[in-house]
Amino acid sequence: MKELLPEIRERRAYRAMSDKPVPDKVVSRIMEAAVLAPSCFNNQPWRFIVVREAGVLGRVKEHLSSGNYWAKAAPLIVAVCTRADFDCQLSAGRDYAFFDTGMSVANMLLQGVREGLYTHPIAGFSPLPIKEILQVPEDVTLLTLVIFGYPGETLALNEKHQEAEASGRQRRAIDGNVAYDRWPGSWV
Ligand SMILES: Cc1cc2nc3c(=O)[nH]c(=O)nc-3n(C[C@H](O)[C@H](O)[C@H](O)COP(=O)(O)O)c2cc1C
Repeated sequence: MKELLPEIRERRAYRAMSDKPVPDKVVSRIMEAAVLAPSCFNNQPWRFIVVREAGVLGRVKEHLSSGNYWAKAAPLIVAVCTRADFDCQLSAGRDYAFFDTGMSVANMLLQGVREGLYTHPIAGFSPLPIKEILQVPEDVTLLTLVIFGYPGETLALNEKHQEAEASGRQRRAIDGNVAYDRWPGSWV
């Protein structure tokens, strides 16, 4: 019987990470998975800054939102950047840079799961100081930080996050997002 890919099934936005370093070979495979994503005209609009040097990691972590305290343990953060004109900009609002960059991040997350890592993208950070630390040009968007770490101690999390760690996956009923043959009247 065909079933979901195990990495898709297993991936969750887990937070209880240890500070155990991620070997270089593992980092390379994750980044290779990312750049193998498809993109419009093969434009490859994604730009990744792999942050793992202790000093730089520490400075980046100073600018996480307070709710992302758990990411301070992480030994590896990938800063994901792009800009609309790095990729196709077609009629009717079809700007593909963000779409294609998202696909490359999905590859990265799933390869990370394959490697036994927790992989967790976040938007809760101050982009301007982090861009400055990483020397990202002003007109490039720092879209997300992907936090990577091997599974660690759940007790290091606050109560709410400990519960989330053990919770089931939450999704709308599938017909709230998937329709067949026509856009349903119930969707706005
Ligand atoms: C663009 C993006 C931003 C996110 N930002 C945060 C964040 O700042 N902090 C956090 O703890 N989780 C963050 N998440 C994780 C989501 O909350 C999580 O993926 C979602 O609740 C679904 O849960 P699941 O990934 O375990 O299926 C983010 C996810 C994405 C894709």
